[in-house]
Amino acid sequence: MSKDYIIAPSILSADFARLGDEVKNVLDSGADWIHFDVMDNHYVPNLTIGPLVCEAIRSYAIKDGKPACIDVHLMVEPVDRIIPDFAKAGANLISFHPEASAHIDRTLGLIKDCGCQAGITLNPATPLSYLEYILDKVDLILLMSVNPGFGGQSFIPSTLEKLKSVRGMLNAYEANGGKKIRLEVDGGVNASNIAQIAQAGADTFVAGSAIYSKPDYKAVIDSMREALKGI
Ligand code: DX5
Ligand code: ZN
Repeated sequence: MSKDYIIAPSILSADFARLGDEVKNVLDSGADWIHFDVMDNHYVPNLTIGPLVCEAIRSYAIKDGKPACIDVHLMVEPVDRIIPDFAKAGANLISFHPEASAHIDRTLGLIKDCGCQAGITLNPATPLSYLEYILDKVDLILLMSVNPGFGGQSFIPSTLEKLKSVRGMLNAYEANGGKKIRLEVDGGVNASNIAQIAQAGADTFVAGSAIYSKPDYKAVIDSMREALKGI
């Protein structure tokens, strides 16, 4: 049975001068979602894009005639103030880092109240205990496989064991009647390591530099899909 894998290119590595076309091209090349990295030079040591840019790309993020998921990854602190702005700007899924929110349950509720799917993001050294009381409120768990702040870093191998643990947790949750929760991985993902990452339990893959640094996005995405076949 082939799994329902999602490939979500991070536009952090796209050409910002041509961002609309970069979004359109990567979806036309076979990507499923657009991963949108928001950095504030406070929670992480870099500064990127905000709701205005999300709104600007919304009409370019179309797949098979329908809006593609804009997967907003908030690396900002505090988080709550900016969530409604992203919802209004057309975000479909919003994830945040628990260390950046004073009230994690409240932030998850706010994302839902704004009509978006909610995700929680764990840094390489952030423990899984954060997941203990929130599975019923999250649609996606995002495991960082690099320290957040920059594209183009190398995949941290210990993420594989962490993915296996979360996959076990999610399988048990689903077996007990819980809903499907996506398990996303972000940082250093490429066509050579994606199979191993999928084997460890991820079903949703962010890739920035691996896709946008190459001239032919379709060739990269095809090679990722090829690597995922049969897993
Ligand atoms: C890192 C970002 C990632 C990053 C991925 O803070 O959250 O989404 O851009 O880029 P690559 O795939 O180049 O590691
Ligand atoms: Zn990201």
